Amino acid sequence: MKTYLVTGGAGFIGSNFIHYMFKKYDKDIRIINVDVLTYAGNLENLKSIEKRDNYSFVKADICDKEAIRSVFADNDIDIVVHFAAESHVDRSIKNPEVFVKTNVVGTAVMLNCAREAWELSDGTYKEGKKFLHVSTDEVYGSLPEDDNAFFYETSPYQPHSPYSASKASSDMLVKAYMDTYRFPANITNCSNNYGPYQFPEKLIPLMINNALTGKKLPVYGDGKNVRDWLYVEDHAKGIDMVINKGRLFETYNIGGHNEKQNIQIVNIILDTLRQMLPDSDPRKEHITKDLITYVEDRKGHDRRYAIAPDKIKAEIGWEPETCFEEGIKKTIAWFFEHEDWMKNVTSGDYQKYYQEMYKEG
Ligand code: NAD
Ligand code: DAU
Repeated sequence: MKTYLVTGGAGFIGSNFIHYMFKKYDKDIRIINVDVLTYAGNLENLKSIEKRDNYSFVKADICDKEAIRSVFADNDIDIVVHFAAESHVDRSIKNPEVFVKTNVVGTAVMLNCAREAWELSDGTYKEGKKFLHVSTDEVYGSLPEDDNAFFYETSPYQPHSPYSASKASSDMLVKAYMDTYRFPANITNCSNNYGPYQFPEKLIPLMINNALTGKKLPVYGDGKNVRDWLYVEDHAKGIDMVINKGRLFETYNIGGHNEKQNIQIVNIILDTLRQMLPDSDPRKEHITKDLITYVEDRKGHDRRYAIAPDKIKAEIGWEPETCFEEGIKKTIAWFFEHEDWMKNVTSGDYQKYYQEMYKEG
């Protein structure tokens, strides 16, 4: 039985990954979730699996060397899946330092503790160990707007925001460990995820929540920035496949083949909400394009991201399965069924964040 140490498992992608893994492997794996529970970490996301014998939660900071060391000392970890990070670009523009701490120092601590636990006296590693570092396509910078260019694993790193610079630094540390110590790792760089449990500071859940509560829909700049949207369960599957089939020391890009301008996304959300709400729902008549408001652009806003997931398809056989029309319906249906989840995460500190971030909203 393989034992997985998942960091950041109470966040959006981490919790979806844990659900995916238990659905697929049930009792044949063990998962230890290490998360410090920042504003983005929510144990509600894991309520349905928290009582499993083969799951445990450790509240710890990945920057805390002693805490992480003892997780490795107490458990024979086979696979590390490293999601824990500060993940929101806008927050990184306001407060870069915590991004450096968590994303860079935290990754260094994770790498060091795994190496300490796994390395043998001759410099090789115990059988079957792997560290999978989850990263982002933002490390490659921005693509031209009207171009057929894509991000590949060989694209140069050109991060622009403090967030992407910190993720690029963490990738470089993983690469340095692979080159220097032959440390058994893979890096995955993926495009924008969407789906259940996503915190409503990110475009899609923010727009869904605002439309349902009659708030303005704040679109940055001209709304024509392009992102390549990936349904989170497809991403979880891709990570599992890279763990099992990925060649050690390789990077794999994971993308949705689904480029859309932000304004297109907002319009699809409005149309889909109207389609899915029953006529008797009083919110329905207010969900119109009049809610859209163009606001000041994000500083250093990358124009276009797009991944060509050719390598992962050719080597591993992964490709995105969920088209956007289907994925957005599943996502909206999930938010309809989890109104309490949304109420809980948008009470308290979220209100303060929202007021500061969207002054005119
Ligand atoms: P998230 O913000 O939803 O979750 C991050 C999780 O990490 C939270 O549970 C938080 O409590 C935890 N965490 C933060 N700091 C920690 C610390 N110091 N110690 C322990 N735990 C800590 O993020 P997400 O959207 O799920 O992203 C997960 C990973 O995937 C990140 O590394 C991110 O860079 C990467 N990624 C995300 C996307 C996306 O679209 N969301 C796309 C590409 C890559
Ligand atoms: O590309 C992968 C990255 O995708 C991940 O590494 C990040 O962790 C993840 O947060 C995401 O980053 P983005 O900055 O692309 O996602 P966000 O949802 O913040 O914004 C998506 C686009 O929508 C971006 O062009 C900015 C725009 N936007 C966002 C918000 C929150 C708006 O126009 N209005 C908004 O209110």
